[in-house]
Amino acid sequence: MRKPFIAGNWKMFKTYAEAGEFVAQVREGLEALTAKVDVAFCAPFVAIPAVAEAVQGTHIGVGAQNMYFEEQGAYTGEISAAMLTPFCQYVILGHSERRGYFGETDEGVNKKAHAALAHGLTPIICVGESLVQNEAGVTVDFVSAQVEAALAGLSAEQAASCVIAYEPIWAIGTGKSATADDANRTMGTAVREVVAKLYGAETAEAIRLQYGGSVKPSNIAEYMAMPNIDGALVGGASLQPDFVELVRQAVG
Ligand code: 13P
Repeated sequence: MRKPFIAGNWKMFKTYAEAGEFVAQVREGLEALTAKVDVAFCAPFVAIPAVAEAVQGTHIGVGAQNMYFEEQGAYTGEISAAMLTPFCQYVILGHSERRGYFGETDEGVNKKAHAALAHGLTPIICVGESLVQNEAGVTVDFVSAQVEAALAGLSAEQAASCVIAYEPIWAIGTGKSATADDANRTMGTAVREVVAKLYGAETAEAIRLQYGGSVKPSNIAEYMAMPNIDGALVGGASLQPDFVELVRQAVG
């Protein structure tokens, strides 16, 4: 059985002080749900220590939104896996905003996945098609290729421990979400079946898949009812106190 997993991606929101205050506000409500659902906040780098401190003594997880794949070196502005591990259990890799604004490639995402796993971090690997691709009917081919590239060279055990977040780009921050049926179908054919083809049924059954894109307290239950959807990667709605309600609705 796959344990549901709801992660908040704060993107470039919340300072150190705001992060600590917010987590203190929602901590008790979320902790009460952690027997049924894994919960984590993926915060901006400098807010991560505040989140890590605020969740101490709870089962709430902490994640980063990116990292670099090299161990260390002259890479101005970058953060390594070893720098994250004192604070984080998770790291988001290949978010569409990083692919779109910062030139991230499938190859880079794959290198980051290897580096994250080598340091004991769980990658939350993001995949998803643009509106143009969606309308051109190439979603399954495009997303399948992203999944295959991201997992290249990982063992079955490593792949099973990853989380893959399917986030159609046209549904991010737009209020337009993919229907639960459509998301479930794409996640089945373009993600879980691809993992099955690469690693076999056992790995495909074990890997957790999240949906992302305009997830709210009012629609999370529809997604969670789908067999291929094990959780959500939540942007805007993870910045508000009613994120607790969203997580509660996720486990009904
Ligand atoms: P929204 O929930 O704000 O649409 O963002 C989704 C997302 O990009 C999470 O990574």
